[in-house]
Parts: sequence; C-alpha cells; structure tokens
Amino acid sequence: MPKRAVALLSLALVFSLFLPASAQKKGKTRPLTTKQLMAGLVKPQLVAVQEGLKAGPKTDEDWAALATSAALLNESGYLMMDDHRCPDEIWKTACEELKTGSTTLAAAIEKRDAAAATEHVALVIKSCKTCHAEHKYKKKP
Ligand code: HEC
Repeated sequence: MPKRAVALLSLALVFSLFLPASAQKKGKTRPLTTKQLMAGLVKPQLVAVQEGLKAGPKTDEDWAALATSAALLNESGYLMMDDHRCPDEIWKTACEELKTGSTTLAAAIEKRDAAAATEHVALVIKSCKTCHAEHKYKKKP
C-alpha cells in the first residue's frame, strides 16, 4: 500500500474515533437509531407518565399503565448504554440519572403515591436535559 494511502487511512481512523462524541446516532451492530429509540420509546413513555399523572390515576388500569411506562423508561436507560452507543461520560451520567429517576418513579407508582411520582418525573426529565445539552443541541464541529 502506498504511504499516502496509509496516512489517509490513519487520518480517517483518528477522525472516526473523535466523531461519536458529538454525533451518537446509532450503536455498532443493531439497526435501532438513537432517533428511533427517542421517538418510538422514550418520548411516548414520558408523555404517558406526565399525562397519566396530570389526569390523576384512579383505577387499577391507570396505575398499571403508569407502572409500565416507568419500567420502559428505566429499560431505555440500559438500551442507551448497549451496543457501544455510549460515547462519553456525559452520556453515561445521563443514563444513570434516567435509571435512578425512573426507579424512584416506579417505586412511587408502586405505592400509588401520585405526589411523589410527580416529583420523581422531574429527575427523569433532568436526565433528558443532561444528555441533550451535549449530544442533541450542541453544534457539531
Ligand atoms: C444518553 C443520552 C440521551 C438521553 C438520556 C435522552 N436522549 Fe433524547 N436524544 C438523544 C440524542 C443523541 C438525540 C438526537 C438523535 C438524532 O437526531 O440522531 C435525541 C433526540 C431526542 C428526540 C428527537 C427525536 C426525533 O424524532 O428527532 C426526542 C423527542 C427525545 N430525544 C426525547 C428524549 C426524552 C423525553 C428523554 C428523557 C426521558 C431523552 N430523550 C433522553 C440522546 C438522549
């Protein structure tokens, strides 16, 4: 291989190592993109929790639906770390916040404590902001 080609290849490799920090669009092997994960799972479940709590859960079905959404939000914190999707410490921290926030949320729902659940939703939303500030809104270099 000519020296020039080797130099170009190594340059491309170096850049590809830096790229994921600012644009984490997908894991390494699975088809699910981060955009699909957000639009298909994360956002709908957060909205379901917010609307369910706002409406005031009354029946067993209402509480069961809230529990499902909290558990799926929790699971999404693990999915976001899977398949080499995580590019840095900020991402990892945000996923920890999401896992902790949704665990306390699920516990409050389990106890049917709507006031506590509403407080814990704030922790979940904080996790979205932690990650988005760096990985969604920050201008790509
Ligand atoms: C660990 C990082 C991380 C966390 C935590 C996170 N997101 Fe995201 N989110 C992203 C990234 C990265 C994008 C941009 C994806 C793209 O456009 O390729 C995104 C995009 C989105 C989008 C836009 C999807 C679209 O169709 O363009 C929505 C909505 C969203 N996130 C909702 C949420 C909500 C709600 C939470 C919290 C419950 C959350 N996200 C938590 C990383 C995260």
